[in-house]
Order: sequence, then structure tokens, then C-alpha cells
Amino acid sequence: MIFGFLGFLGINICFGLVFVWQMNSNTDAVRDEVDFEFLGNRTGQPYTVQTNIYAHGKGNREQRVNLWFDPAADFHTYTILWNHHHIVFYVDDVPIRVYKNNEARGVPYPKLQPMGVFSTLWEADDWATRGGLEKINWSKAPFFSYYKDFDIEGCSVPGPANCASSATNWWEGTAYQALNALEYRRYRWVRINHMIYDYCTDKSRYPVAPPECLAGF
Ligand SMILES: *[C@@H]1O[C@H](CO)[C@@H](O)[C@H](O)[C@H]1NC(C)=O
Ligand SMILES: *[C@@H]1O[C@H](CO)[C@@H](O)[C@H](O)[C@H]1NC(C)=O
Repeated sequence: MIFGFLGFLGINICFGLVFVWQMNSNTDAVRDEVDFEFLGNRTGQPYTVQTNIYAHGKGNREQRVNLWFDPAADFHTYTILWNHHHIVFYVDDVPIRVYKNNEARGVPYPKLQPMGVFSTLWEADDWATRGGLEKINWSKAPFFSYYKDFDIEGCSVPGPANCASSATNWWEGTAYQALNALEYRRYRWVRINHMIYDYCTDKSRYPVAPPECLAGF
């Protein structure tokens, strides 16, 4: 079962913590999960957004992008588009990550189970903040994240079984099957100027790049 999904979420994050908003299947054995993780930093230093994708129980697909603005200063729109063609992570109108459906190359793609939306705020100053150098200043607690204009569109579960496979859902339409020229230019800009880590090019972890990486971006 798949449900198409567009989330619009404004957030405000506090220093030192990891703020996560994600979709996951809530099943451990064959976990599907799509993550936006905001890693805190020393005040004034860029926040890193780490994204990850678990498909059929396997994750380890981290990418990291340093944001070009202070996400704690104002609301921004963080979106996940999920359809049969690809999963796209957007920050405002900028695609920061595309995970294509590469089932033809034998790469698992999350589409067999529904996902829920979760948001969490947790302590991870042993690794997340400058690799663990920056510690949380607990005297600044409590910490908050703020949301507004949340929107989710997709097939509801339980719902009509044929919704998930319907090609007439708007999020499956031609305009949503691949990035358009403007989105592609923005995506390139992020990759060239803001991407600081990509598991696809981490030779120490993957001497041979995983198959989904060979398709290029
Ligand atoms: C924190 O800031 C430093 C210095 O600008 C940067 O190298 C790093 O990527 C930022 N993010 C994290 C999570 O450390
Ligand atoms: C923690 O925050 C408090 C209150 O803002 C401040 O006085 C203190 O210097 C901070 N501690 C560190 C180690 O930055």
C-alpha cells in the first residue's frame, strides 16, 4: 500500500538538539522511513539537515546539507513528495534530495506499506553537533519546536484499496514524476554549494557505491 504525500511543515528549532520530522512505517522488521533531521550547532554556525531513507528495512543512506539560513529564526516549508516515481525532499522551493524509484536496478523502494508522520526532539550531542564537540546547554531548557500550516495529502489508511495504485492521484501526475528544469537547477545549486556529506561518495563506508548511486542525480 502506498499513499502519496505532500507535507508542509514550518518549524523552529533549538540549539544543541536534533529535531526530526519523518514518515515511517512503524514496523521494525521491514522498516520504511523517510527522515528530515535537523542537527544543532554552535550558535551562529549553520544547521545541518541530514536526510535518510530506509526501504524494506535498510537505511544507511545519509546525506547532509548545511542550510543557507537560520531555521530557528523563522518558519520555513519542509516538504516530502512521495509517489511511485521518486521521493523528493524540499526546503522551501529547493529540492535538497531525490531518491528515485530504482526497482529496475534491484534497489528497494518504499511502497508496500503505509507510513505515518512523526516528529521528535532528542538529545544527540554525542554525534550530531559538530561530531559531538558541542554539548547541549541544559540551562536553556525547555526546548521547543513550533509548527504551522501543516498539510498532508494522500490516500487514507484504511481507505479505498485502489487509491494507492491510482495513477489519477494528483501527486502521480506528469508534473510530479521528475524535477522540472528550475527545480533541477536549484537541486544542482544545493549539491554544489551546500552538500557536505553524501553516502554515495563515502568510499570508506562503501568501496563500491550502492546501486542507486550509480544512476546519478
Ligand atoms: C556546524 O558548523 C560547522 C562550522 O561552520 C560546519 O562545518 C558543520 O557542518 C555544521 N554542522 C554540524 C552538524 O556540525
Ligand atoms: C549556558 O547558558 C547559560 C544561560 O544562557 C549561560 O549563562 C552559560 O554561560 C551557558 N553555558 C555554556 C557552557 O555556554
